[in-house]
Amino acid sequence: MMTKNQKLIDWVNHWAAICQPDSVYWCDGSQQENDRLLQELVDKGVAVKLNEKLRPGSYYFQSDPSDVARVENRTFICSKTKEAAGPTNNWADPDEMRATMTKLYTGCMKGRTMYVIPFSMGPLGSKIAHIGVEISDSAYVVANMRIMTRMGKEVLDLLGENGEFIPCIHSVGYPLAPGQQDVKWPCAPIEQKYITHFPDTYEIWSYGSGYGGNALLGKKCFALRIASVMARDQGWLAEHMLILGITNPKGEKKYISAAFPSACGKTNLAMLIPTISGWKVETVGDDIAWMKYGEDGRLYAINPEAGFFGVAPMTSLETNRNAMLSARANSIFTNVGLTPDGDIWWEGIGYDAPQGTIDWQGNVFDPKSGNPCAHPNARFTAPAGQCPSIDPDWENPAGVPISAILFGGRRPSTVPLVHESFSWNHGVFMGSIVGSEVTAAAIGLKAGVRRDPFAMLPFCGYNMGDYFGHWIKVGARSTEGKLPKIFFVNWFRKKDGKWLWPGYSENSRVLAYIFDRCNNADIAVDSPIGKLPKPGAINVEGLNVSSEDMTAALAVCPDEWREEVRGVEEYYAQFGPHLPGEIAAELAALKARLG
Ligand code: OXD
Ligand code: MN
Repeated sequence: MMTKNQKLIDWVNHWAAICQPDSVYWCDGSQQENDRLLQELVDKGVAVKLNEKLRPGSYYFQSDPSDVARVENRTFICSKTKEAAGPTNNWADPDEMRATMTKLYTGCMKGRTMYVIPFSMGPLGSKIAHIGVEISDSAYVVANMRIMTRMGKEVLDLLGENGEFIPCIHSVGYPLAPGQQDVKWPCAPIEQKYITHFPDTYEIWSYGSGYGGNALLGKKCFALRIASVMARDQGWLAEHMLILGITNPKGEKKYISAAFPSACGKTNLAMLIPTISGWKVETVGDDIAWMKYGEDGRLYAINPEAGFFGVAPMTSLETNRNAMLSARANSIFTNVGLTPDGDIWWEGIGYDAPQGTIDWQGNVFDPKSGNPCAHPNARFTAPAGQCPSIDPDWENPAGVPISAILFGGRRPSTVPLVHESFSWNHGVFMGSIVGSEVTAAAIGLKAGVRRDPFAMLPFCGYNMGDYFGHWIKVGARSTEGKLPKIFFVNWFRKKDGKWLWPGYSENSRVLAYIFDRCNNADIAVDSPIGKLPKPGAINVEGLNVSSEDMTAALAVCPDEWREEVRGVEEYYAQFGPHLPGEIAAELAALKARLG
């Protein structure tokens, strides 16, 4: 045991008695420990060590075909009342859930090791950071947590005898009888998977899945669902946002955070290489931001994570050079293809699959078969410090001051390339109506806008209406001028079925406009929905976009927005009295401006 923290020792003993592992192992986070655990997985045939020359220090895993993504319908918010979880969360009674899951946990680690994984979300000792301890029976989880968080002995040292930690319990839910052969990817059937949060006691209980956000409990479970509740209670913000630094040709630097629903290119934007000369973008984080007030009344953000858990397919040197280079070594690849020379491959990597490449299910990949080589949610886990564009202040314990907050989604119609809020509260309104358009082709979905407020729909640990109210309250604690400006962007507008805006690196042109607006440049003009760029305010030099398309990309069509208002009214109805008056007032004001 490496700690004198009695609360931690008691908690570990409590769970060891329930889960009944063969042994308990406290992780120190060292390189030797990592190498040893991964070697054990290689020896068991669970992992493949990739070619040391091509992909040094890196490993390859294939999950069970039933365990490939976050399971939102098995994710629960167990607050005392259903109302406290709100209409957008899966609620279950906490006492009943504890009983159900305790039964599942009883003896669930037989034949396995229980790993105790101390971790810090955020730079060690930062006032914005918080500590967690995960108990898990998966060495794969240990190796991933070592990349995704600051993990090991130093965290226990920091915790000391009396430090507070968020307890996170995880089991793959596959005990082994004496002599029973293990499987490559142990997990429980879907109806036994539970990703459970107890917001009233800041606890996480996860059972039955070994994949990503279901199992790496520092990420979505702690840094978003439980942290959003802590942030509400303590007056800060825990958000599904990337953080980037942007420097203009004069050397002036600002930081921007941005929330987009999953699969809208957050990682690409965070690591963008600008196409406009003299500008530089640097990466602080690609998925999560924790923001607290500094003494100067500004919001300071940290990336609570230490690595990237990125979607592999379609990532290439062309689409995201910095992500590709982040994963050049010391990385873990899950559910991608494996080439005969011991490297990885996926759709959209930028070259054809070598003959004999193995797909994510272990079969020889046949490009003509129509089956993908990599699972669409295949991931790389890569240390953030290896990212060529990593910001020099990404580990600054004080965080970085945020000048602008961006919201966005996939909106083929209605929403212009960029518009700016009139005020903080108007910006909160903008965040509350974030969404992506879905087509009727998707099974079980109604065509229209799938609202994903603040991109937090699957990640908010309490009533979403109250969450809007929390944002209003946070803004009221500072003053316009010190608060970040708020923008809504849409890279995905279409005309006649074609994108109007090229996106990717060209988004730097919109970032440059936002940067200049943060200096109050006189380049914006009022519209009913917010401030729009004046004609010519966005630099399109060298860009192959006609002025007609540019006008269309920035157009505001009142009819489309009246339709939007109707959709928002319908969406808001579910929040009842939890919808803040300020937000209802913003919607009414928009309606009035549209006439
Ligand atoms: C993610 C997600 O994996 O948002 O980051 O789904
Ligand atoms: Mn995410």
